[in-house]
Amino acid sequence: MVKTNMLPQKAEIVDIKQETETNLNIKTFRYKFLDDQFREKFSFKPGQFMMVTVYGVGEAPFGFASSPTEKDYIEFSVKKVGLVTEALHNLKIGDKIGLRGPFGNGFPVESIQNKNIIFIGGGIGLAPLRSLINYVLDQQNRSKYKNIQLLNAFRSPEDTLYCYDYKWWENTENTKVKYTIDEPCEGWSKCVGYPHNLIDEELDWELPDTKFFTCGPPVMIKFVTDRLKNLGIKPADIITTLEMRMSCGVGKCGRCNIGHYYVCKDGPVFTLEQLVEMPDEY
Ligand SMILES: Cc1cc2nc3c(=O)[nH]c(=O)nc-3n(C[C@H](O)[C@H](O)[C@H](O)COP(=O)(O)OP(=O)(O)OC[C@H]3O[C@@H](n4cnc5c(N)ncnc54)[C@H](O)[C@@H]3O)c2cc1C
Ligand code: FES
Repeated sequence: MVKTNMLPQKAEIVDIKQETETNLNIKTFRYKFLDDQFREKFSFKPGQFMMVTVYGVGEAPFGFASSPTEKDYIEFSVKKVGLVTEALHNLKIGDKIGLRGPFGNGFPVESIQNKNIIFIGGGIGLAPLRSLINYVLDQQNRSKYKNIQLLNAFRSPEDTLYCYDYKWWENTENTKVKYTIDEPCEGWSKCVGYPHNLIDEELDWELPDTKFFTCGPPVMIKFVTDRLKNLGIKPADIITTLEMRMSCGVGKCGRCNIGHYYVCKDGPVFTLEQLVEMPDEY
């Protein structure tokens, strides 16, 4: 892995996808590092994040939305909420940004080998999960993991993300993909309802040796983790990722701490077993 560098590396935007623009304004940006040597050496783990600099505006953390198996570029999906994210949304293909990282612990890709995996993602929370989903479904990795199930939750059909991945996800062996929206709607023939209410009937959650990954709005994470706990799933097998305010990204400034944990350094990925021990500040 490239030594952590506090200086942003210059990267060019090579593609922009407008994912949704109704309720949520989300774009997926594809970046390519300008320095060939840096790009060749660069590596990361799904679940890690980068600090993205929009020159003259500011810096903000974003989790990788692409898999490290894609060697030539990296992707981040960005919801427009404020200063930096709005400035990012105004950029065009060919514009340059700064990137420093990768930071954080990332998902435990090695220790979940030979396990069943269930992903429950909601809205922009699907972004960090997509990095791991695309990693485990990649041809070179698929045989290392057992059954894979996805439950992707969106507010409405207009808010679905990564539609261009669905065919691949659905056609991969031993992989089951479900989609749900909050309310019934004309033309929608898939699931309806909040994801925590669909776990029992839509997922084979009783398969032995299953690891659960969930990410989404805090309220969704709470309901999903409560439901999984009530079904008897061990808190150590429920894994999520936190989004605290951050500044340095490397455990120095104290901006992101919860109790004795620095989310930027000890996280952002935590098991429910770790979360229940933390003060209720996330
Ligand atoms: C590890 C990590 C990974 C992240 N991954 C993604 C991602 O993949 N896609 C994405 O769109 N966003 C992601 N975020 C959140 C993203 O960093 C914030 O949305 C961004 O910093 C907002 O910057 P801004 O200048 O546009 O907003 P500001 O102008 O600073 O604030 C606008 C609004 O956003 C809220 N806000 C700011 N920062 C956060 C935050 N960290 N969490 C929740 N609300 C915040 C503020 O309270 C305010 O209401 C991630 C955050 C972390 C810590
Ligand atoms: S962002 Fe500075 S300590 Fe975590």
